[in-house]
Amino acid sequence: MNKYSLLTMKDLTKQDILQILDDALLFGTDYKDWQLPRSKALIANLFFEASTRTHYSFESAELQLGCKVADIDVGKSSVTKGESLYDTVKVLESIGYDAVVIRHSQDEYYKELENISIPILNGGDGQKDHPTQCLLDLLTMYQEFGTLEGLNVVICGDILHSRVAASDKEALEKMGATVRFAGPEIWRREGFTPVELDDVIEEADVVMMLRIQKERGSSLGDMTDAEYLERYGMNKTRYARMKDTAIIMHPGPINRGVEFDTDLVEAPKSRYFKQIQNGVLVRKSVIKRAFGYPPFEKENA
Ligand code: NCD
Repeated sequence: MNKYSLLTMKDLTKQDILQILDDALLFGTDYKDWQLPRSKALIANLFFEASTRTHYSFESAELQLGCKVADIDVGKSSVTKGESLYDTVKVLESIGYDAVVIRHSQDEYYKELENISIPILNGGDGQKDHPTQCLLDLLTMYQEFGTLEGLNVVICGDILHSRVAASDKEALEKMGATVRFAGPEIWRREGFTPVELDDVIEEADVVMMLRIQKERGSSLGDMTDAEYLERYGMNKTRYARMKDTAIIMHPGPINRGVEFDTDLVEAPKSRYFKQIQNGVLVRKSVIKRAFGYPPFEKENA
């Protein structure tokens, strides 16, 4: 495995995370036009699950850095002939790709890829991890509050099936924030401190809603969309109870009228589209790191 692969937030130290975030911030300002000195790097994007934000913001980041991008159409590849994930990635490496971005429904799919030497950037594995989503969430909070230390974060919804909840918990705790989890009892997860959203809404700095992961078997049962919004979602009553300085977030895609009142998606406290913008910055930062480039020198910035 290449040491610059980004597979799980567990592999990053607090210092690694701060360096990635600082580089991402600089990509938004002084280093906007910075490109990989080793230009024309070939990157393959291999998405086995549906994706808009992650897939196309990786692509945008790659193109902005001067890479050449191959968007592998899994449905037209030899995966349909039964070729294994390992063989598929080994083929891409043998063809000459310099790095690969992978999203796959299997938890820790990368464990099969130990013998791959090019960097692997994880675009989401099963219910386990989603490191670049986590980093863009952290960046959004870091920009807002100037630190992650001491932040009071509540994540609400389908915790059980969410790789975003898992990665964000891992990283936020590492950075000194408090993270608690709300939503229907059936979606609680062992080791994830449960709270009632209405009990903590006034003290939270960040309230993040999660999508109901229907493709992983989650269902509202007898509850209607409107009932879910009323009991567990970000509605106008809860929004009004939040601190003036607090923000609301969602990794997307949003089910409007279920997790979020549709009028709140672009409300002043919402950072939903900011998160998406930040996704390009953190992906530029992790791609730069994947090719072994050290953090930007701040004093030159
Ligand atoms: C998330 C994912 O795929 O894990 N989406 C994303 O990457 N922005 C969350 C989700 O699909 O609900």
